[in-house]
Amino acid sequence: MELNNKIVLVVGGTSGMGYAVAQQALAAGARVVVASRSADKVAKAAETLGAGASGEQVDVMDGDSVARLWERLGQVDHLVICAASIKAAGFRGASIEDAQASMDSKLWGPFRLIQKARIAPDGSILLFSGLASRRPSAVTGTLSAINAAVEAFGQALALELKPVRVNVICPGLVDTEYWDSLPPAVKESIFAATVARLPVGRVGTAGDIGKAAMTMLTNDYITGAVLLVDGGGALV
Ligand SMILES: NC(=O)c1ccc[n+]([C@@H]2O[C@H](COP(=O)([O-])OP(=O)(O)OC[C@H]3O[C@@H](n4cnc5c(N)ncnc54)[C@H](OP(=O)(O)O)[C@@H]3O)[C@@H](O)[C@H]2O)c1
Repeated sequence: MELNNKIVLVVGGTSGMGYAVAQQALAAGARVVVASRSADKVAKAAETLGAGASGEQVDVMDGDSVARLWERLGQVDHLVICAASIKAAGFRGASIEDAQASMDSKLWGPFRLIQKARIAPDGSILLFSGLASRRPSAVTGTLSAINAAVEAFGQALALELKPVRVNVICPGLVDTEYWDSLPPAVKESIFAATVARLPVGRVGTAGDIGKAAMTMLTNDYITGAVLLVDGGGALV
């Protein structure tokens, strides 16, 4: 119960990796707040997580919404930010508006949240990037730039916000709701190609990321780290 009596806010905690982080933080004794834009998703996640969990509505792309969230919450021990809505991953064919909106959700969203945050001095912030930061492909121009920016931002904040620790998890392909927008056959072929390539021979689960997140929240000798949780994807 390493997170006993701790408050963990998971922004983007109503789905995918954020939901798994919330589950594992609860199991470790924390009180957990999951937050995202959709009132329905917030209510459902808080209910299915059960005792010790509550929900808050927030849009990280809206400064007033973020300010109101912090007015309601006050101080937390750990802030985990998984929220992202990616409208453009590549460069060719992407509009600047979609690229900017993607960056707004995943880089400026954390910027807004952290600027207004009250984090306990022995607490931490955990950001999420993605393997496109270091393994770009011909279709990840926008995403690669965003993920690299998140990693650099997190490492600089580890110095500026000390003693609060700041870390980044860099996931490889993880089977979450994020992929559900693709036609099933396309998703299957991306997953099959990844399984064939990865040293671990499988795609990641949200639970894999939840476990890594628990290490980042509870090990107080880790700050300024970018942890690859990618099944060896950076090597192949
Ligand atoms: N899945 C992968 O393979 C993969 C790989 C590399 C990196 N990543 C990164 O890992 C992180 C988590 O990904 P995931 O797959 O777990 O995502 P996901 O299942 O799509 O969940 C995204 C979460 O963010 C919330 N959200 C989106 N936009 C928001 C906004 N403007 N304000 C507040 N909340 C917002 C969503 O809820 P609402 O819709 O209710 O707002 C949802 O709870 C993201 O940063 C993603 O880019 C994912």
